Amino acid sequence: MQLSFAAPGKIGAGAWVVGALDGNVLTAAAQKADAACGGALSRGLKFSKFTGKSGQVLEVLAPAGLAASRILLVGLGKPAAFDGAAAENLAAAINGRLGGAGESAVTYEIDTPKGSKLKPGALAAHLALGARLKSYAFNHYRTRNLDEYEQHLKTVTIATPTPGDAKKDWAALEAIAGGMFFARDLVNEPPNVLYPAEFARRVRTNLGKLGVKVEVLGENEMKKLGMGSLLGVGQGSEKESQLVVMRWDGARKKKEPPVAFVGKGVCFDSGGLSLKTGPGMMGMKGDMGGAAAVVGTMQALAARKARVNAVGVIGLVENMPDGTAMRPDDVVKSMSGQTIEVLNTDAEGRLVLADALTYTQRNFKPKFVIDLATLTGAIIMALGPEHAGLFSNDDKLAGRIADAGKAVGEPVWRLPMGPNYDKLLRSKIADMKNIGGPNAGSITAAQFLQRFIEDKTPWAHLDIAGVAWQDGEHKALAPSWGTGWGVRILNELVEAHYEE
Ligand code: BES
Ligand code: MN
Ligand code: ZN
Repeated sequence: MQLSFAAPGKIGAGAWVVGALDGNVLTAAAQKADAACGGALSRGLKFSKFTGKSGQVLEVLAPAGLAASRILLVGLGKPAAFDGAAAENLAAAINGRLGGAGESAVTYEIDTPKGSKLKPGALAAHLALGARLKSYAFNHYRTRNLDEYEQHLKTVTIATPTPGDAKKDWAALEAIAGGMFFARDLVNEPPNVLYPAEFARRVRTNLGKLGVKVEVLGENEMKKLGMGSLLGVGQGSEKESQLVVMRWDGARKKKEPPVAFVGKGVCFDSGGLSLKTGPGMMGMKGDMGGAAAVVGTMQALAARKARVNAVGVIGLVENMPDGTAMRPDDVVKSMSGQTIEVLNTDAEGRLVLADALTYTQRNFKPKFVIDLATLTGAIIMALGPEHAGLFSNDDKLAGRIADAGKAVGEPVWRLPMGPNYDKLLRSKIADMKNIGGPNAGSITAAQFLQRFIEDKTPWAHLDIAGVAWQDGEHKALAPSWGTGWGVRILNELVEAHYEE
């Protein structure tokens, strides 16, 4: 899909999209379009329930006297509520509709409503982002009937009075979309293709190009570091476990402590010897969604040359049953020195994160560390696909994350932690066990992770099991199974608070 920004001109070929505010107030562009087609829009309004509410569309096909194939009058709603997210959703919805109708070109001429906080350039850039995010498809493995799945919309033009401003705003948003697309690709890839070493290779190739320093540790190196917890998880797999360390040094002050992101990268989670059921195992190729989000974020930060020092660390493993696999009842020793009684090999994500968190804190002394993980089924029960679970030892960091999520449409919901939950992790023979019991499963998982946070490092954990991928109907801005959730919220957090 080709995207461009241009100053408004005469109505040309393809579909033409103009806006009306709540109460049927036609914007200037809509009035111009109405006049150009001999009043077909205003006449059409009389035969329609259209009132200008957000989500509504009035379509005039083959307007007389114009090259355009159709004119769409779209509801912008109330000006004060017309923000970046509204513009994104608008373009995503209209592009979906037009693509389905076999249209190949569209021009958006949406005037900034008086009373909206959006500047014209920003409005144009957010329309572009909606169009771009909607255009994502993962058709890599289809060999038949491609036409059914291909994008019909080839050209998207955004008419704006300030194309220069729009292009500047778009450069940053395009970087975010690129990071999300990489994250989606990684989540959508099947596990026979995307195993730990292949994941690491792709990170090296894609992020290396952007100036991110990528270091990959194999099993021997991790053994030397004492990462018995992470290595235990990968022990039953034919595939070698990997730890990928990414650094983006964009801050003006070279010595500035970095922000740090840590991701769970279980390329396939069979449960190990605590084997999942058949249906429970489906989709477990996506158990590396946390790692994908971290990688996508690092890509976005580098692509927009964010003035921040950031590190991303992902633990890549495959959790498989085998004669060599970790047993329920095994005790492993983590890099932190703490021992863990593994009572359920399906509670493996926390074992991977434990060593990745220790490595990150000891090597980088970060300002804060945020981990992302498809950690528990329980968080899906609690929050469904609408919110990620947030856990933190730091109210300020938690507040900033919540605000960032709201701002970009990746909302989070904070859950409690405390010593009484932590007690549930007491083991009969080791420093802790890796499961807490039947209740509060997402919280005991977070308590487990907190045991690996040192010197009161501000820390937050995002349980993204419910939001990293989606079943059934896909969301307009995330039209594939993998959503790329996490890239936008982390990028926003950095942009709002941690750039110089
Ligand atoms: N990867 C799963 C969590 C998960 C489940 C993500 C369903 C997405 C959909 C995780 O490794 C896991 O198996 N967690 C167990 C923990 C339990 C054994 C304490 C769970 O949630 O059942
Ligand atoms: Mn598991
Ligand atoms: Zn898992």
